[in-house]
Formats: sequence, structure tokens, C-alpha cells
Amino acid sequence: MQNNKNTLRWWQYGVVYQVYPRSFKDTNRDGIGDLKGVIEKLDYLRELGVQAVWLSPFYPSPMVDFGYDVADYCGVDPMFGSLEDFDTLVKEAHLRGLKIIIDWVPNHTSDQHDWFKESRSSRDNPKRDWYIWRDPAPGGGFPNNWGSVFGGPAWTFDPHTEQYYLHQFVSEQPELNWRNPELRAAMYETLRFWLRRGVDGFRMDVIGMILKDEQLRDNPPNPHANPHAPANDIFGRLLTTYNMDQDDVHSIIREIRAVLDEFDDRCAIGELWGELPRWVRYYGENGNGLHLPFNFRLMWEPWQAEAMRRSVDSLESALPPFAWPNYVLGNHDQPRLASRFGGQPQARLAAMMLLTLRGTPTLYYGDEIGMENGIIPPEKIQDPQGKNLGAERTRDVCRTPMQWDDSPFAGFSSVEPWLPVEAGYASRNIKAQDAEPASMLNLYRRLLQMRQESPALHSGGYEALTVSAENCFVYRRQVQGEIRIAALNFSSETRQVAIPGQKRGTVLLSTNMDRQETVDLGALVLRPFEGVLLAPEA
Ligand code: GLC
Ligand code: CA
Repeated sequence: MQNNKNTLRWWQYGVVYQVYPRSFKDTNRDGIGDLKGVIEKLDYLRELGVQAVWLSPFYPSPMVDFGYDVADYCGVDPMFGSLEDFDTLVKEAHLRGLKIIIDWVPNHTSDQHDWFKESRSSRDNPKRDWYIWRDPAPGGGFPNNWGSVFGGPAWTFDPHTEQYYLHQFVSEQPELNWRNPELRAAMYETLRFWLRRGVDGFRMDVIGMILKDEQLRDNPPNPHANPHAPANDIFGRLLTTYNMDQDDVHSIIREIRAVLDEFDDRCAIGELWGELPRWVRYYGENGNGLHLPFNFRLMWEPWQAEAMRRSVDSLESALPPFAWPNYVLGNHDQPRLASRFGGQPQARLAAMMLLTLRGTPTLYYGDEIGMENGIIPPEKIQDPQGKNLGAERTRDVCRTPMQWDDSPFAGFSSVEPWLPVEAGYASRNIKAQDAEPASMLNLYRRLLQMRQESPALHSGGYEALTVSAENCFVYRRQVQGEIRIAALNFSSETRQVAIPGQKRGTVLLSTNMDRQETVDLGALVLRPFEGVLLAPEA
């Protein structure tokens, strides 16, 4: 049967927008974004044209890892508001036809979570086994060779009970033991808590790490490790053979999915880092796993048409028929896409690619106005990764306040925000770009609208077209009766492209937003970094 909006689900035809609540909008003048701020901006998001809003964690937390250290899975940190505010947010979002996806952090809690306080209190506490405790190695020292993503070893010794506990992030993020059935049941209850409140889905943090090798064997050295990495980057020097993507994680993924399936039409998204063959398994057998295992591959590609094409083609051919693709180009852990890909023109082209490929795109707040990496003076570094692994690794650069207007704190707050506002905010802000017809913001709006209105774009097939023009990525999206072609010039020079099998067509949209015309598809001229979306003549 033909794919269309009637047969697709909202997380297939819609676009996901990530909000980092700390940095979106501050309403109570403490320099930190809050849930009321998100509510205030729901109309903006609806008008932008996205379908779902994913919120990074707002749970009670000591904020050592800015909310990814959860002290209570079933609450809201007073810094962000209250449960009542959250309920209002869900209600107001639903009134506008928007879905709410929340972050769920199943791999670890904060060391301030009651569960961990109990677990560490004695070796025979009933919750001891809810975390991963081990004796020192024979002869002393760490139980195995694993490292923390944020630098240093993955083990911390607890003198009170004379054992080590595992943490692959900061030491204040002890890891849960998913082999314990009581822990699993308790975690599933936290999902139900939010599902009952009406959340439409979860983005599951480092879901591929929740289960470790039963014997916790040493990881082998990584032959491709960066030789210039700091000495404490133990994690980066090892392969992830025994700490990620274990075969037996998939039965747990099925259990998690079954909890979501107790409710109508909810969506499971997972943060996953592994290679394609390991990654694709998270869709489950016949689709009983995650709906959308995040696909970050394009984010890590060099700025090169061929690299992008190879990445998309290998993804398309790895997917079983029931699996729905998805693409991510930016999030709260990576440099801003406009900075990573080299500038604003590149960011415009990237937007067209992201929003015209087959599968669900996820947008990161501020990318729609081309926000660039913030400049963070060393003494203002907040992120533990930046503090431990060096200023050039700090994720603060992509977490700066959203730029709403050109007032002193960019309309984010009336007091100094927790991170400095990005340098270009005077022109890179929503208000200015709203008024400028060819702005990045209006390009995003147009792309989102076209994607929504075109069956070929939101549900058609994908096929790469081979062209001889250097550094151009051209593909066809097609559903019965409708064809769209995206022709993307990744080079900084003008290119002439001959689109195979096509004579004439209409340019529906250019990334420069300055042409809508009939063109000869045998000699299509693309300006530097220009992308066009075409409707070929039959
Ligand atoms: C994920 C999050 C990241 C966090 C880490 C630990 O990678 O995206 O922000 O620091 O997990 O929870
Ligand atoms: Ca606030």
C-alpha cells in the first residue's frame, strides 16, 4: 500500500525538535530556562512546523551533568518548575497538535537518588544489587579496565563498604544494574508514570549501554584511538566490546517497548552510537524494538557530497523493510552544525538535506537560525566533559541561550544567563530572521511546510542519482504520482548538473530562496553551496 499520512504514524511523517530546557526561555529571571518558558514558546514551535518537542531532562538533579544525573525519575526540578507546569505543558502542546517527548535516563542515576543512597549504605541492603558493585581486582585496583566517557576510570571506590561502583560518565552517575528484575520493574514504573501524564514518547539516554557483559571483561584497545587525546581519555582508547550493545540488551528493549505499547501511539527513540550492524538490531525483530534508534552518522561525516551519499545509501540498505529511517544533524553534545560544517551557506544546504531525506529528522533548537558555537571563556566552562577533557571538548558551546531578539540577553532572560549568549545574536535571532524573507529561519519554515505537504517528501522512497558534477549529492524521492528531486552542491564553486533521465523541471525552492523557475534539468546550474528542490516535468 502507498505510504501517506493516513498509514504513517506521527513520528514518521513529523519532525522532532529538541529543546534543551536550561537554554530555551527563562521566565522567572534566574538566568536558567524553565518549563513555563517552553510553554510560552509553543506557538513559535507550532508555527515553525514541527510535530514533536523533545525535552532534555528537567528532573530533580544536582546538575553535575546538567540533568542527566537524575535524583528522582518522577519529579520536576524546582529550577525548571513543577509537575503542574509539566502537566500544563503537555496540555497546551496537545491543544496545538504538538507531541511531547521526554528524556529518560535509564543507564545511571545521580548519586543523590534515594536508590543509590540505600544501595551504598551496606552490602546487604535490598537495593545493593540495583547498582553495579565489585570487589577490587585481586591484588587491588579497579575491577576492570573500563574508562569514563568524561575522562578517568569508570570505577570509584566506596570506602564505607569497600567495593567499587561502576560509572561510565561522572562519578556522581552510578550505573544501574539492569540484570536485576526488581530494578527493571521499578524503571518500567517510571515510564508508566509519565505515560499516564500523557507524554507521547521517550528519548532514551545511552540505551545501548544499560546492559554490560555479565563478566565485565576488559575491553580491548581501540586501534583507531586518537593519539592526541588527553591521557585521562581511557574510554576513547578502548573498544566498546563489553560495555555497549550486548546481545542480551535486546530482550530488555522489547520489555521497554511492551510498556509503551500498553498505551496508544507512543514512540520510543534511543540514543545509540554503535556501528550499523550493531545499531540496526535496536529496531527489533519485525519492529518490536525502538521506533527510532537515533542515526547520528551524517553528523560525523566530512563536508563532502560523496561521504553524505555513502552514509545515506548504507543506512538505506541496512534497514529491514519495517524499519523507518531517521537523521540527526545536531544535539546538545556536539558542536553546532553551522560551525561544524563550515558556515552559514553550508548550514542552509544541510537543512535542505536533513528535511528532504527519507525518514524522521530531528532538529536542535537554534539550528533553525544558524546558531554557531558559543565562545566560552575557560572560567565559565560548565560541562564536566570540558572540565575533565579540555576546553576544546566542552559541550557548552552548543548549549548557549536561544536567541529570540537582539536585546542584551537575546530575549532569553532579563538577567545574565547561565552561559554567555552566542556572539552573532544581533542578527541571528528569531525576531530579525522572521522579518527577513530569505533568512535561515524562513528557509526552515518553508522546508518544513513543503515536507508536510508533499507525500513524496514525507513518505516516498529514496534513490540516489549518479551525476558527473563533482561534489554534488542528488536524489529522488517518489511516491505514486509525485516525484521530488533534491540537488545539493557541496562545493564552494558553481556546478552544472545533468540530472539523469529528466528534461525540464521546476525549481520549487532554492536554499538561497531567490528563485522559483522552470529549468533545463540536463544543465542545471547550482551556485556555491546551493541546494534546490525540484519537481521534474512528466
Ligand atoms: C548522553 C547525553 C549526554 C549525557 C550522557 C550521560 O550521551 O546526551 O548529554 O552527558 O548521556 O547521561
Ligand atoms: Ca528560570
